[in-house]
Amino acid sequence: MPGFPELRPRRLRLTKAIRDLVAETLVSPSQLMMPIFVKEGIKEPEPIPSMPGQYRYPPERVVDVIREALDLGIKSFLLFGVVPDEKKDLRGTYAYDPRGPVPTAIRLIRRELGWEPAIFTDVCICGYTTHGHCGIPVERHGRQLIDNDSTLEVIARIAVTHAEAGADFVAPSGMMDGMVSAIREALDDAGYTEVGIMSYAVKYASGFYGPFREAAGSAPRFGDRRSYQMDPRNAMEAIKEAMLDIEEGADILMVKPALAYLDVIRLVKEAFPQYPLAAYNVSAEYSMVKAAAEKGWIDEKLVTMEIITAIRRAGADIVITYHALDVARWLREGYSPF
Ligand code: PBG
Repeated sequence: MPGFPELRPRRLRLTKAIRDLVAETLVSPSQLMMPIFVKEGIKEPEPIPSMPGQYRYPPERVVDVIREALDLGIKSFLLFGVVPDEKKDLRGTYAYDPRGPVPTAIRLIRRELGWEPAIFTDVCICGYTTHGHCGIPVERHGRQLIDNDSTLEVIARIAVTHAEAGADFVAPSGMMDGMVSAIREALDDAGYTEVGIMSYAVKYASGFYGPFREAAGSAPRFGDRRSYQMDPRNAMEAIKEAMLDIEEGADILMVKPALAYLDVIRLVKEAFPQYPLAAYNVSAEYSMVKAAAEKGWIDEKLVTMEIITAIRRAGADIVITYHALDVARWLREGYSPF
């Protein structure tokens, strides 16, 4: 006859109260950062077809969503600008125009809500260029290259424009080498030493950005982003990217996407535990959940909570997610599925 177990881990799982008592990972709304698309030239929020429940907002309406989110305990926001094709050029110069959608929204937020929300801004040119790349293309030996150093000048100007408008943090996402130090130097020269940098330090060339590119009108018109975003086959390279951004002055690091890269989140957190780590639960990760839920194939609330919890458990301090409002609402209602 087999012996009875002396050790019984199941005791810690018997009731909800005991499970909650010993749970290692918690999710609270203050750890969620909400992405917001700000679009020039519209009057009403515009639904994004590939991202059910998400909208592009006119700058004048951003304050309303932020107010709603603040009431639910979400305190940080990541703004993306969306502009009409007429405003785009080769270098993305409209991205540093103070009349653009992002600076306009920030000024309105500060006027109406002061510094209660933390405003982060995506700093990149892909949504502002005719070619849709995150760097400026140049032709050399008959091929198109994405030029690193001329792009740095542009993104440094964008960062300063956002700081002037009142951003708390700028978030460079273009994966150009040296982008963090270029921005840090420009911010400091302009006197914005208090404005922080959350670097998209570890950003992969991913198929999971599809719905976002539709939402932001930022898909590359030729080629792809594989000469600047990271190869999904590499994990150790994440340490190098994170290390360089730390040396260049990043305050917060980011890994992106999140769900297919939980190992990378863990690796970066363990390599640099002293730096706050954000993980970006990107557009297709969101849309897949919404699509499966619409078909009735999954329990949306349960799956969403499990995903956000898993990203936190992997080592992310901050989760940037389109689910932020839903999750905050469910938590407010006392929903706790575990
Ligand atoms: C722009 C940028 C992208 C995302 C954030 N900033 C798209 C890209 O690199 O093509 C993706 C976010 C998402 O998919 O939710 N550089």
